[in-house]
Amino acid sequence: MKIGIFDSGLGGLIILQEIIKQLPQYDYVYLGDNARTPYGNRSQEVIYDFTRQAVDFLFKKDCQLIIIACNTASAEALRKIQQQWLPKNYPDRRVLGVIRPVVEKAVEVSGGKIGVIGTKATINSQAYIKEIAKLKSEIEVIQQATPLLVPLVEEGWQKSAINRKILRKYLRPLKLSKIDTLILGCTHYPILYKPIQSIVGKRIKVLHSGQIVAESLADYLVRHPEIEEKLDKKINYKFFVTDWSEHYQKLGQTWFGKDIKFEKVELR
Ligand code: DGL
Repeated sequence: MKIGIFDSGLGGLIILQEIIKQLPQYDYVYLGDNARTPYGNRSQEVIYDFTRQAVDFLFKKDCQLIIIACNTASAEALRKIQQQWLPKNYPDRRVLGVIRPVVEKAVEVSGGKIGVIGTKATINSQAYIKEIAKLKSEIEVIQQATPLLVPLVEEGWQKSAINRKILRKYLRPLKLSKIDTLILGCTHYPILYKPIQSIVGKRIKVLHSGQIVAESLADYLVRHPEIEEKLDKKINYKFFVTDWSEHYQKLGQTWFGKDIKFEKVELR
């Protein structure tokens, strides 16, 4: 069986690339719902419906374990899928998100004040605040929705002056609040890692979710040999998208860093 990676679009390829760096031996199935991306400004109900369809698709492609690489879907749909949908439909399969592992790391390295940036849906869900409070209630969390960053990255404008201006504006309140750790709570933000780190300064630790999620998956597989044993190890990677164009094909290859072929599918 395989490991499924789901994202609302193609940003999850940045996370998959990190996972494959650490765990290249497994078979992966990637699904990007790029026909309906972005999820970040949508309602919880719609994000849940789309995510459930995606997870169902990946299970039908023989995935034993799915990582929801999308922060928005992890924030708005994961809990309901894990607690209600999964036990009824696929009780022996697993779905994990990206928020919990990043929060564990942030709580470990922070001195008491964590900043979070993400899409509007992720920030409004307060998912990071709730997870951090579960682990260490005394930590203060300062959030900032940064909805312009996904389109900027998708346009390839990460090195532009306008990008720096927008980042400065978004990050200013977090800097003024004297956070010591910053969570990049969105698939696309690792691409902005360098400008973000240079704007916030060395005093603030910026957490790269791809590496953390990959480490946490490796650890999960060690702790769950009953799952690990079921996984194929033929280094077979498959990529599905819900919309295909030359533009997406190129963007995907840039973000994944390797030649890939997308296959178009329909979710329902
Ligand atoms: N993948 C989304 C996330 O990580 C960003 C793009 C979107 O809004 O769908 O939050």
